[in-house]
Amino acid sequence: MPDASLSELDPFVTDALALIEGLSTLDAAREAEATLIGRRSPLARWQRSLGSLDPEERRSAGALLQEARRTLESALEARVRALGASERLTRMESDALDLGDVVPSGVLWTLADGRAGLVARTQRELEDVFVSMGFRVADGPEVESDWYNFEALNMPPAHPARGMWDTFYIELGEPETVVLRTHTSPTQIHLLEEAVANDSLPIHSVMPGRCYRRDTPDARHLATFHQVEGLVVDRGITFADLAGTIDTFTRAYFGPDISSRLRPAYFPFTEPSAEFEITCTICRGEGCRTCSQTGWIELGGCGMLDPAVFEAVGVDADEWSGFAFGFGIDRCAQMRHQIADMRSLIENDVRFLRQV
Ligand code: PHE
Repeated sequence: MPDASLSELDPFVTDALALIEGLSTLDAAREAEATLIGRRSPLARWQRSLGSLDPEERRSAGALLQEARRTLESALEARVRALGASERLTRMESDALDLGDVVPSGVLWTLADGRAGLVARTQRELEDVFVSMGFRVADGPEVESDWYNFEALNMPPAHPARGMWDTFYIELGEPETVVLRTHTSPTQIHLLEEAVANDSLPIHSVMPGRCYRRDTPDARHLATFHQVEGLVVDRGITFADLAGTIDTFTRAYFGPDISSRLRPAYFPFTEPSAEFEITCTICRGEGCRTCSQTGWIELGGCGMLDPAVFEAVGVDADEWSGFAFGFGIDRCAQMRHQIADMRSLIENDVRFLRQV
């Protein structure tokens, strides 16, 4: 390498450092690396020409080239690190949720407290009403065998009434069919079996809890929802006790201007059976779109315990009689808070949660 060209090494390094400092993207940095220290760079050319020098010169020129390469390499490395960090930051900023979009500034602080959701609160309020009426609160499993969800409730295998509930089956193989409970009624069976085993009748209990149906969610239905079951078994219980209990509950929970009515219906585990309806809370009985102009909203089912259920669990139907009811907790929340679409309860939209 002639001396003249190596004398260009210093200005080359100075220019290269300035260029590296001015790089503004990672792509540009990759290109600069090729032109400044790659195989076609002046550095590589100088390197190749070292062979024509005598050994003494070769050593000192080689050392200079080596040093220049290291300087440029570490400058490039530092620049790439800085650019990478700032590109990551830009990406984070552009991906970030704009919370101000959903929640007006300041509101976040009031939300930070945390509280029970609307359905959980409604469940507690319902429990309070029933406890004040003399009921106990019990609960039962969400995963049930066929016996509890259907058979003991007077629905033997292939009974057409099973079709009233679109059921999620859990495949655990023989010998038992296992389901996610489609209603809270199986808890009636657990309580009755327990009372028989402990000889502890009468029963006055409510059993709230989560249920599952293979339903397509819409404005009035969810696939995972909540019911509260009621069970009274005592001596001399009549249909009048059932009607009185439903009406007392309705006025206590929804207010004195809301009343209830019973309409004939069919459930395999009660006889006679009824659907119970309350005055539509949206129009107060005038008739509106929510209640299809009837002035009434269906809340649940009820009836006198069928002797077949007593027989399945071994309760003497000559000595004991009883009634049961079951209705939707989510539906109660919807009616009490006038929520147009029940799906709002599970969508976790902050604007909705803030209101209720
Ligand atoms: N389990 C019934 C349902 O979910 C409601 C019901 C409960 C009916 C108790 C009668 C007695 O449809």
